[in-house]
Amino acid sequence: MNFNTVDYNREKNALVIIDQTKLPGETVFLEITSPEDAWEAIKSLKVRGAPAIGVAAAITLAMVAQNIETDEQTSFLSRLSETKDYLAASRPTAVNLFWALDIMEETARNNQTLPVEEIKKILIEKALELKEQDLTVCRRIGENGLTLIKDGFSVLTHCNAGRLAAVNYGTALAPVYAAAEKGLNIKVYADETRPLLQGARLTAWELQNAGIDVTLLCDNMSSSLMQTGAVDAIFVGADRIAANGDTANKIGTSALAVLAKHYNVPFYVCAPTSTIDLDCATGKDIKIEHRSPEEVTNLWYEKPMAPEGVNVYNPAFDVTENALITAIITEDAVYKNQGGFKWQR
Ligand code: MRU
Repeated sequence: MNFNTVDYNREKNALVIIDQTKLPGETVFLEITSPEDAWEAIKSLKVRGAPAIGVAAAITLAMVAQNIETDEQTSFLSRLSETKDYLAASRPTAVNLFWALDIMEETARNNQTLPVEEIKKILIEKALELKEQDLTVCRRIGENGLTLIKDGFSVLTHCNAGRLAAVNYGTALAPVYAAAEKGLNIKVYADETRPLLQGARLTAWELQNAGIDVTLLCDNMSSSLMQTGAVDAIFVGADRIAANGDTANKIGTSALAVLAKHYNVPFYVCAPTSTIDLDCATGKDIKIEHRSPEEVTNLWYEKPMAPEGVNVYNPAFDVTENALITAIITEDAVYKNQGGFKWQR
């Protein structure tokens, strides 16, 4: 398990990812060398999870920059911007994608008086810096989240916001990993997460490999589980957090938050500060991705499990309103909900 979910191969000038559509059956690493393949990998969830998508896009932009054949800065920058816009159109909800691409473009613009060959090197170093930053940020989320966990806790999580959703370590699972490193006994319940089964395929896989006690359940079993008193806390990730704390995350997250309130279970969102989008005043401003009907009707079945042509509702994310969130944990702080969230920066 000694790998990064997203990485860069300098010799081959390639984006390297573990193909998450092949897990848990096969462990396949892909070396991606074109923007089209990177776009497809993001769209088809070969690489997924907000922080991982951001770093993958940054590495792709740096990689593509190496292949731009011009010595003229203006034309270099305009071709870089074209690729940036192209990559930004792969998925709409996770703000980390746009955040990382903006940083890369700004880095190029801030250095536009340098020779193009120099700008190219700076872009690689910037993408690698974002990769390293993700590792540090996730560790700090883990430390901050650990303050909310006690020995013997059982936590419930949804989708995958673990090491497969970031460069390594993850966000919502970071406190669990931090607790395990301290020798605490933690049990994790993982929602399977219909329709794309990130909980079953990815969370169960990575926790099992890490030697952490994990139990899988279907999404519609979480109320029954909470009713037994088995869940001490819920930890989820985020794709975009609006200025008021409303949080977009994998479809089904808001249902869990409603249940958590009913059963009086604390509901925690873990995310890097880069996931907070101050340009979105509330969750209503967050664009929600809708995906193909076949993901619901056919994808995991040998034959279709719904009548042909049936209408399908398949949003990939939902918004949990801020009032349902007990605290938001970033690398900077545990922001407790005190009738709202006051960000430190
Ligand atoms: O569609 P996905 O698999 O990219 O959705 C991922 C999630 O919803 C995660 O919870 C979120 O991106 C946070 S990952 C640290």
